[in-house]
Amino acid sequence: MQNTVAVITLDNPPVNGLGFETRVETAGGLDRALADSGVAAIVLTGAGKLFSGGADIREFNTPKATAEPTLHTLIRIVESASKPVVAALNGTCVGGGLELALACHYRVATANTSVGLPEVRIGLLPGAGGTQRLPRAVGVEAALNMIVSGANVSVRDLARTALFDEVTQDDAVEAAIAFARKAVVEKRPLKRVRDIRIDYPNADGYFGFARNSVAAVTKNYPAPLKCVDAVAAAVSKPFEEGLRYERGLFLQLVQTPESRALRHAFFAQRAAAKIPDIPDDTPTRSIRNVAVIGAGTMGGGIAMSFLSAGLPVTLLEMSPELLDRGVATIRRNFEASVAKKKLAPDKLDAAMALLRPTLHYDDLSNADLVIEAVFEEMDIKQQVFRELQRATKPDAILATNTSTLDVNRIAAATSRPQDVLGMHFFSPANVMKLLEVVRGDKTGKDVLKTVMDVAKRIRKTAVVAGVCDGFIGNRMVEHYLRQAMFLLEEGAAPAQVDRALEKFGMAMGPFRMSDLAGNDVGWRIRKRRYVEKPHMRYSRIADRLCESGRYGQKTGAGWYRYEAGRRDAIADPAVDAMIVSYRKELGVTPRKIADDEIVDRLILALVNEGARILEEGIALRASDIDLVYLTGYGFPPYRGGPMFYADTLGLYNVARRMKELARIPNADAEFWNPAPLLARLAGEGRTFNG
Ligand SMILES: NC(=O)c1ccc[n+]([C@@H]2O[C@H](COP(=O)([O-])OP(=O)(O)OC[C@H]3O[C@@H](n4cnc5c(N)ncnc54)[C@H](O)[C@@H]3O)[C@@H](O)[C@H]2O)c1
Repeated sequence: MQNTVAVITLDNPPVNGLGFETRVETAGGLDRALADSGVAAIVLTGAGKLFSGGADIREFNTPKATAEPTLHTLIRIVESASKPVVAALNGTCVGGGLELALACHYRVATANTSVGLPEVRIGLLPGAGGTQRLPRAVGVEAALNMIVSGANVSVRDLARTALFDEVTQDDAVEAAIAFARKAVVEKRPLKRVRDIRIDYPNADGYFGFARNSVAAVTKNYPAPLKCVDAVAAAVSKPFEEGLRYERGLFLQLVQTPESRALRHAFFAQRAAAKIPDIPDDTPTRSIRNVAVIGAGTMGGGIAMSFLSAGLPVTLLEMSPELLDRGVATIRRNFEASVAKKKLAPDKLDAAMALLRPTLHYDDLSNADLVIEAVFEEMDIKQQVFRELQRATKPDAILATNTSTLDVNRIAAATSRPQDVLGMHFFSPANVMKLLEVVRGDKTGKDVLKTVMDVAKRIRKTAVVAGVCDGFIGNRMVEHYLRQAMFLLEEGAAPAQVDRALEKFGMAMGPFRMSDLAGNDVGWRIRKRRYVEKPHMRYSRIADRLCESGRYGQKTGAGWYRYEAGRRDAIADPAVDAMIVSYRKELGVTPRKIADDEIVDRLILALVNEGARILEEGIALRASDIDLVYLTGYGFPPYRGGPMFYADTLGLYNVARRMKELARIPNADAEFWNPAPLLARLAGEGRTFNG
């Protein structure tokens, strides 16, 4: 038949990634269709509900990623095809997927298609012609916005551009076949995006402006500015030269520490969901109803996370007053989100309608998952768990939000420890992404898997941790904070320490962070430590601060002072005086401390404790530790997390530096002994994330 249209389908679940096998099959299909005189045109589409999510990430850093036919080759085959190639876009089409679609002669899309070039998010730029073809298809400014932000854009916003030849309400493939037939019958010339002339008169002015605005908001990230350069080249250079220029920039960016760090974080996210002894097909329990015990700071935020995800929550408190106060706080927080336009008003009503306040355990009989967030006291928690065992279904999952208590002991208060685990949220729980999922000695595999899946539903980044005091994040931060306090004794001021860490990239220095979290939290923990670990050194300086009632923002004063209703940390001479007198008591002559030393001591303290956590199996992998710090502690994404940062320094250098730090007068020499795992890896020339 004269008018046969061949349909080639990218089929590589879950997102039709353009992996090696898919590229081989696609190139083979194209060659066959082009050689077959019975085929007049070709439709290229994706299996399932999308076109393609781009490169196959499972192939990154393997020889397959660069094996022929590469994406570049595939793009050339499509673009130079002698028969019309029509892309049928049936949903998401991003990254390399969009670059491939841009090489097709025509594009037909369903109305729910969205397109984007997200490479900048992993510190790269689109390296298969995206920066040269997209400006030709949608215009310079729209393309630059998409490429610099990495954001997805819906067909609606680009419908009138050369990116889409037709937008259909029907099936994309059917519409594309009809389109292809018409193109053949009408003998339409093969349209190539590369041939579109860009007419952009005031390019220099515009790109100058774009560079300034981009530079102002992306100072630690080289990729966005390179994106501007690449798009500028689409205007100033002939197409082939522009492609070569794009390639050059791409190869530069791949090598940058920032891109390596962002790629590491990207893979860390995926790796964290995998638990070595729990296969993906492990059966899970169904979670339809949730209960939260305690409507305080954490209980309220945890309830909000589930309500926002559309899950009904029963909230239990001790008295009607406390319950009312808790519910009112939840409502107020949702209302604040509406005021900030972060939540639609009808979503507020929908969320509140799912909330069921109660004072009675008997109302928990239909709960599939219960999260306890009562006071941090073992006796109280055990009592609550005994009640839960009595009042809930036999297969309900029972979770505790404890920060410091032994999850195994809490589980032991029940006769079904297999159903018990920790779900350690971070404050404010409705905002913070991190969730440490604490696996008890007896936690069932199905229980752990169920909770990891639930975390996704409430949009949390879940990381598995073993049972120990502080789990991953807080166990490490204790040593970070110990170093911060020692530095005060030795001569630094809180503001200097904070500034040094913020310059390093931390969202907030340690003293501002402590003032936000409440200095009394650490105080309580230290009092326990003085008894449990008398050999461990702590500066008593923070205790002095707390003894004077300076708990932080909530009392208007901590390491800094705060004006009513404001969060700006203002240096306070009273704190300086307190530090000076404390040094005198210790007989310490203050010295000038360089910012580099401050950063090394705090960050390497995280690294050394992280290494112990890894060796003990508390964390499953180094990248889990990195993820905890990236999502829960404001660690700079362009440094990839503490363990990755140590890898980039080189573990030999890290171990050496620790030995130097041990020799500083007043140093906690014992702590700076490199952890055995760190020493071993350093000796073998290896890395944590190896
Ligand atoms: N605040 C944080 O930053 C943070 C972070 C992570 C985990 N946690 C943990 O979360 C838990 C709660 O902390 P919080 O900061 O929300 O404390 P909170 O004092 O604000 O809230 C505790 C709530 O539990 C209620 N409660 C106490 N005993 C109860 C009982 N037997 N039955 C029902 N309700 C009871 C109290 O009335 C109070 O409203 C603690 O285990 C804490 O360690 C706190």
